[in-house]
Amino acid sequence: MSARDILVQEAARVRENAYVPYSNFKVGAALRAGSGAMYSGCNVENVAYPQGTCAEAGAIAAMVAGGDTEIKEVAVIADSPEPVTPCGGCRQKLAEFAAADVKITMATTGGKQVTLTMADILPGAFNTHHMSNT
Ligand code: THU
Repeated sequence: MSARDILVQEAARVRENAYVPYSNFKVGAALRAGSGAMYSGCNVENVAYPQGTCAEAGAIAAMVAGGDTEIKEVAVIADSPEPVTPCGGCRQKLAEFAAADVKITMATTGGKQVTLTMADILPGAFNTHHMSNT
């Protein structure tokens, strides 16, 4: 099994734990960090809807808590007709830790997969260079 398949498999595993009483839309995310460790997260909704967190945010929080700050590869999976793409906010969160060439694989539980890079999903990302005059 390829390293990518292992990431997708882990995203699918953690997706089962998603807490989604409001959308009933479970998402799982897994990432491989600079140390080689794998971290994962699922979406966790809240009765105060904006307080809910995406699967990607959970995986990033687990990574930082685990002592890693570099993302090498990402997988996201949901039960959707087409592979689900990270929301705008999560693209920015991923870009904090992922270089432009980091691969993001988006998968469906039905077996479809699309792999794009960080730069593909967040072109022109806001970064520290924009603040270099300050
Ligand atoms: N969601 C994620 O967790 N990740 C994505 O990439 C897209 C959306 C969640 C947020 C919410 O719990 C549910 O999916 C419906 O928007």
